[in-house]
Amino acid sequence: METLTVSGHHFELTRVPRAGKRPLRAWDAADEYVLDHLAEVFENSSAPRSVLIIGDSFGALSCGLADWAPTVVAESAAQRHAITENLERNEKPRVDFATITDAHTEVSTFDLVVIKIPKSTAHLVEILHWLRPHVNPSSQIVAAAMAKHIQGSTIEVIEETIGEATTSLAKKKARLISVAIDSAAYDPGLNPWPKVWKAYGLLLTNYGGGFSPNKLDPGTSLLLDTVRNIEEQIDVSVSAEDPLTMVDLGCGNGVIGLRVASLLNGAGITNRIIAVDDSMLAIAAARQSWEHHLTTSGSSATPVEFHHAHRLANVVDPRSVDLVVVNPPFHDDRVLGDDTAWSMFVDAHKALRIGGTLIVVGNRHLAYHAKLKKIFGGTDTLASNAKFVVHRSVKSAKTVQRSGDDGVARTD
Ligand SMILES: C[S@@+](CC[C@H](N)C(=O)[O-])C[C@H]1O[C@@H](n2cnc3c(N)ncnc32)[C@H](O)[C@@H]1O
Repeated sequence: METLTVSGHHFELTRVPRAGKRPLRAWDAADEYVLDHLAEVFENSSAPRSVLIIGDSFGALSCGLADWAPTVVAESAAQRHAITENLERNEKPRVDFATITDAHTEVSTFDLVVIKIPKSTAHLVEILHWLRPHVNPSSQIVAAAMAKHIQGSTIEVIEETIGEATTSLAKKKARLISVAIDSAAYDPGLNPWPKVWKAYGLLLTNYGGGFSPNKLDPGTSLLLDTVRNIEEQIDVSVSAEDPLTMVDLGCGNGVIGLRVASLLNGAGITNRIIAVDDSMLAIAAARQSWEHHLTTSGSSATPVEFHHAHRLANVVDPRSVDLVVVNPPFHDDRVLGDDTAWSMFVDAHKALRIGGTLIVVGNRHLAYHAKLKKIFGGTDTLASNAKFVVHRSVKSAKTVQRSGDDGVARTD
């Protein structure tokens, strides 16, 4: 745990989930800069009545502005968890969370908006379009980021969508962008997100801040080509009364669950799908992709449930699942790493019944086979190309005897 000190206030902050052996700070210089700036701006004036924070990572901004009862747009379940834990630790009240997938918030217009610039321009575009009806010319808007993350396109998008952007001097390599709102009547045009496109004959909804929002990811594509005859690759000892339970882990736009369900239906295997994702943008997209599918496929529809969660272990019982399919993320926001993949494999091991199967696609250089071997006791390669590998691991009674359902502790 480390202490963030801004304008004479101290906050004890931890990054949650704790990033394995790479304990990283729970805030950056852009968080400090914006908190210092706001303390100065509001030193001699009354506090803003309605405050919105968009994109707080681990709670530094929420803790710093907690006394103004902010609404916080946080799409990630892990980040919501981190923000709540850090608020509690610093004895601050809980905040209201919001998502840009919902057009409404409890507050209709905000006096002060603090935006942490997201990684992708597409995500910034959809955030600003969502924000536009919630601000007026008397609202103050401050965006913050490390200078290296502010591109020409960042400023362009802000000016096209909201109004004139003025960039501050850099402080500890961070910058602030103050945005003056053009007339309330200014029309930024239509939000281009979400977009709908087709893959494997399925209409898929995609938000700009979701994974691979413009086209099917090539790793996902290799995985879905590989499982064309999935009934030959997994243990299918299920019955109509006891359908095969599959988890689409990190479901994104829902394509894996939708495609696998349709392959299983085609092979006469009754099934139900549990779609889980850390991102609210993914859950909203997957819901819409499934809704479209369910309205067009009538009675052959597969039952599906959605969970906005960052640990599978929190949403399904141990040994309750027959199949987990996943294309794990290999970065956490701007940080590359395999901690999430590792926890997904450990959670999948716990969730699977003995004889249940995990199918994973990953970039070749990530060497998932080594991790799968440690957790499942073995793995085989179903397919590979120059860039990606599709792995399959089966939960065996032997690994459970050795290390229990929870699998082995990480040692690398
Ligand atoms: C590589 S994308 C795959 C998306 C989709 N399955 C596909 O193949 O197109 C990984 C997904 O995992 C989600 N994710 C990241 N961390 C997660 C976690 N801890 N638990 C569940 N999902 C997570 C991301 O939001 C993202 O949608």
